[in-house]
This record gives sequence, structure tokens and C-alpha cells, in this order.
Amino acid sequence: MTMTTTATETPGAITTHDLEPAVTGKLTCGSLRAGHVGETVTLSGWVNRRRDLGGLVFIDLRDRYGVTQVVCNPDRHPEAHQIASDVRGEFVLQVSGTVNRRPDGTVNPRLVTGEVELEATSITVLNTSKTPPFYINEDVDVDETLRLQHRYLDLRRNAMQRNVILRHRVVKFIRDYLDERGFLEIETPLLIKSTPEGARDFLVPSSGFPGTFYALPQSPQQLKQLLMVSGFDRYFQIARCFRDEAQRADRQPEFTQLDVEMSFVDEEAVMGLSEALFTEIVERYSDKTFVSKPFPRMTYADAMARYGNDRPDIRFGMELQDVGPALASTGFKAFAGVLEGGGQVKAIVVPGCGGYTRREIDEVTDLAKRSGAKGLATIAVADDGVKSPIAKFLTETEITALTTRIGAAAGDLVLIVADQPAVVAKVLSGLRLEFGERLGLADPNVMAMLWVHEFPLMEWDEDGQRWDATHNPFSGYYAEDEQYLDTDPGRVRARQYDLVANGNEVGGGSIRIHRRADQERMFGLMGYSTDVLPERFGALLDALEYGAPPHGGIAWGIDRLIMLLTGEENIRQVIAFPKSQRGTDLMFQAPARVETTQLDDLGLALKPTKAGPTEAAAMVTPAEAI
Ligand code: AMO
Ligand code: AMP
Repeated sequence: MTMTTTATETPGAITTHDLEPAVTGKLTCGSLRAGHVGETVTLSGWVNRRRDLGGLVFIDLRDRYGVTQVVCNPDRHPEAHQIASDVRGEFVLQVSGTVNRRPDGTVNPRLVTGEVELEATSITVLNTSKTPPFYINEDVDVDETLRLQHRYLDLRRNAMQRNVILRHRVVKFIRDYLDERGFLEIETPLLIKSTPEGARDFLVPSSGFPGTFYALPQSPQQLKQLLMVSGFDRYFQIARCFRDEAQRADRQPEFTQLDVEMSFVDEEAVMGLSEALFTEIVERYSDKTFVSKPFPRMTYADAMARYGNDRPDIRFGMELQDVGPALASTGFKAFAGVLEGGGQVKAIVVPGCGGYTRREIDEVTDLAKRSGAKGLATIAVADDGVKSPIAKFLTETEITALTTRIGAAAGDLVLIVADQPAVVAKVLSGLRLEFGERLGLADPNVMAMLWVHEFPLMEWDEDGQRWDATHNPFSGYYAEDEQYLDTDPGRVRARQYDLVANGNEVGGGSIRIHRRADQERMFGLMGYSTDVLPERFGALLDALEYGAPPHGGIAWGIDRLIMLLTGEENIRQVIAFPKSQRGTDLMFQAPARVETTQLDDLGLALKPTKAGPTEAAAMVTPAEAI
């Protein structure tokens, strides 16, 4: 791992890293070593801490490379000492002086500069600082709203500096790696027409053509496919993407992808390249070890059956098990009804939780209900039998068949859900992850990778009463499944693959459709009428008629990748200037109202929305309301 030097720094100290100082050509607060003793040097930085020992004043001077102890002696350099006596935390200083070996017993092995100190002969205060709203030099919990409001200060803190630097390193590594393999980085525009990736578009009104809008790209999907038509057979881009959707711990409205596309390739080529690159990154930039290499593969159907989730965390078991067969002729209505109606009865075995109290069980039941379950049946297994609220509805044979089937042993708690497959999957997958966390089953030191593939091409959209593409409408499908396209679209498997790491979807892509007729057929299945296609997808459809090569690609979430490498649990920790949980910028207070004249120029007028009164009428901007 490149950045192991952090471990040797004191809390609050800044990472010393390998760019320093040869490239910058100047001494930094991380430079000085025993070899510098006797030299006269000048350092610039921020006051990390000041200690006044009555006589001597010590200043820890900090920059992004490290911390250097400055000592100010009142007898030898009274002027410097006087200035040092008055400085406070976060003042910006330029200090000149002599490098001394620290007196015996005062060497600080936790600082890379810990063998020496700088005896100040002169100090210039380059700027003062107000008392910051939170500690910068200590690794303490600070309210995130405050941190986001003063992000420029938050970014001075050790952990944030480390994340920003690591992100730079990884992105640079990716660029070099792909460049060496013949890939070209090609920028694509941000003011485009929408490419559907399943979220709402951010729209940008045009003043040149009032009443019309650009859309910010949800991804460069169509553009990278067009680049394949242009003959740039190996493309990548560190691309900004915009999606107006509900935020989560791993989701931002604007985020960054490593976007890749290749011509004349099959799945193996794209997955192989991704796997090799991902492996190198993890091995270089984290301490995590792979559970298995090469990365295992699992079909979507298997992932859903075993984990109820298309991005399973396979660091632990507790798989979903079908108990339907043990209950084939049960008289228990709640289960029998579901089975007759084409539903499922599935269970997970939670190890060691057989002793849960009534209250604890109620709380778990509540969790299940909140994620959509109609009920949760539990069986606590003990040496002397089982304890279960459904024991009275089932025969002893059925209970034994059930617990035996799923391998429940004394001390275990069995959680059972009966419902339609989608509900069973969602509820049990949620409970599995919840107990995985409660019981500490997921090892944070490993990287459990998985390729999930053979996704269904289409899924039925209940709300829209139409078929919709599961990934995006450009994914190709297996030739042998083409026969079902018109009769049973849900059965057609897409040539799509997702890269999953410890339960996070870090990447996804597919081999694309590359002929116009096939693409039009796909759009047709999704309910687009032929007359809207030229307007929505004209450029791509036309391009497919001019010798479009077979092609495919993938996109990784860079933010999620850095999250995984750093072990951060929130995507905001690895983005210099992220949006808040509600999608707002707390520093700039955006989104914000605009002048009426600006709206006039755009030919726009505000009217009340479902969400409430117009922003113009509201007393505060959305950002202030947080
Ligand atoms: P997809 O929509 O799966 O595919 O996105 C690719 C990867 O981007 C990351 N990601 C996000 N990260 C942070 N915040 C978000 N809101 C967010 N949304 C997605 C995920 C995801 O795996 N054009 C296709 C790629 C292709 O087919 O080549 C696409 O965008 O890690
Ligand atoms: P009821 O007959 O609805 O009172 O339910 C009796 C028991 O079966 C309760 O413990 C319920 O939580 C459980 N139960 C009811 N419906 C379901 C279901 N769909 N899945 C799992 N357990 C259920």
C-alpha cells in the first residue's frame, strides 16, 4: 500500500506521501530528517498546535505533507518568540530557522519529521485565522452539516486529505493503465439530450431557444457508443454523471464514472480487463485481500434465489432457503395461501440468536414489515425443542422437516417470510444484511468480488404497465434467447454483467446492440412508438446504419471504488465537495432562487409543484431549509 506512512503520523498530522519533495522542489512540513541537521531552511504552513511552556514556545507547523515541530527560544530569538506567543491555531506562517536534532528523549517516532525540530530565527504571519467551527487537528466526530458548510476547512483534516490524495492516485493509475493498453480518453459533452439510465434528468434551460432544455448526462452511454462507430475502438473517460434520484449512503446526484467502451469484443474481454485493473488497484491501494481470484461469477437468477439481491455480499453465508417443499401440504393458511398463489416461503437461519426475547423478536418483525413483509414467522431452536408463534399452526413433522431442511441447530433463530418472490427477496435480503452486521459476519479486511451476469433484459413495470430495460435499452441479448423476445420478454437474458464488491455494485456494463433493426425492436418492446424514436434516439439509430462495429463496455462508480478502498461508509467522505443527503450544496447554498430577469430570459415562469409552493414564494432556499 502506498500510503502506509499515515500510520506513523500523530493523529491530526497530515499524510506524508511520495510526491514530496522532489517534484515540488521545495521543502515542506514533511521533509525534514536527521540528514538536514545544521541546515538553514524556510517552511510555510498552518499552526496545527501551539504549546507555551512558559519559556519555550512550540508550534506544530502543518501542511499536506506532514507536521514539523518549530521551537521558539525567548533568549536566542526574542522577536520570533514574541510572534509565536501570539499566534493561534490555523494561522498561516512562514518560519525560517535552523534544523536541530531533538534533545534525547524527545524524539517522536510517530512523526516522519520526529527526529528533528526547526529552531525559528524569524516568523512571518502570512495570515491570521478565526477560531475554526470545529477541530481540524483532532480526529473527533463533527456534525456533518457543519463540515459541509465549511468544507474547505474540513478538507484540511487528516482523514479527508488522505481520501482526496488516494482518489487522485487511483484515478491517475487508471489513466496510465488504460493509456498503456491503447485506450484513448475522450471527453464528451455535459449539455446533451438525455440518455435513459433509470433516473430523472437534470435539465438545463436554453436561452437561445426558450422553452427547450438540455439534459445533463446520466452517463455518456450513447456518446461512447457513437465513438465506437467513429472507430475509436478503445475509449475511456473519467466522466461526470448526473442523476436526479433519491440519495443514499452510496449515491450522489452528481458522481464520477470510469466509463469504458471497446469494439470487436465479447463479455470476456471487457470483464477480463476490468478484473485485471480492479485487482491491481485493490492490491496497490488497500490492505484488503481477495477472497477469491479470479472473481467468481453468479447468474442473476442464482443471486436472487440465494441472497435475494443482485449485488450480494458473499463475505458470509446465511443464504435464503426455500422451505416451500417442507410445507407442500400444510394446513397453515398464511403459508398455504401464498404457495397456492404462486408465491414462496423462504427462510434464513440466524446463528446464535435463538435466545432473542419477545421484544427483540417484535423489533425484527417490525423491520421486516417496514420493508414490505405482511408478517414474519420465527422459530427459535433449543436443545429441548422449538419455540415459535406458528408452532400451533404447523404439525410437528412439518416443523422438523423445515428445520432439518435448512440446517437450523440449537441456538439458532429461523426467520420465515411467505409472499410473492420479489417481497420475499427484499425482506429476507434486508434481514440477512442486518444480521450480518449485528453479528459482525462480514470481514472488513477482505474483498469478496463477484460478477453477476445473465440479467433479464426486460422487467415488467407495474406502474407504467410496460416492459422496461433492466439496465439500459442498449444492452444486447443472448442469441439463443431471441426467440422469446416477442412472446416472453422477461425470459430473455441480457449480455450484461455487474461487478460487485462486498455487497456494493461498483460497476456494470454490457455487450451492446449494434444494428438498427435490433435496437428499434428493443425500443418497440419498451413501448416507444416508431414516430418518437427519431426525436429521442435519432442520432444513435442513424449511426447504427453506418457500419457500427460490434461493441461493449462497462462503467465503474469511482466514488464507490474509493469508498471501498478507504473503508469509508459514506460516499461523501471521498468527494471533495459533495452534496448533502438531500442533494443540496450547503457551502454555496444551492440550489438557489434566481433573479426574475434570468427566468424571463429563459421564457420560464414558476408555478407551484407537488412538493409545495414555488421557490420564489418560499421564504428560504431549499439549501437553507436543511
Ligand atoms: P450504471 O447505471 O450501472 O451503468 O452505472 C455504473 C456505475 O456507476 C455507479 N453509480 C453511482 N455512483 C454514485 N452515485 C450514483 N447516483 C450512482 N449511480 C451509479 C455504480 C454503478 O455500478 N452507462 C452504463 C454503463 C455501461 O453500460 O457501460 C451505466 O451508467 O457503481
Ligand atoms: P396470523 O395468522 O396472520 O395471525 O399469523 C400467524 C403467524 O404467522 C404470525 O407469527 C405471523 O407473523 C406469521 N405470518 C403471517 N403472515 C406471514 C407471512 N406472509 N410470512 C411469514 N409469516 C407470516
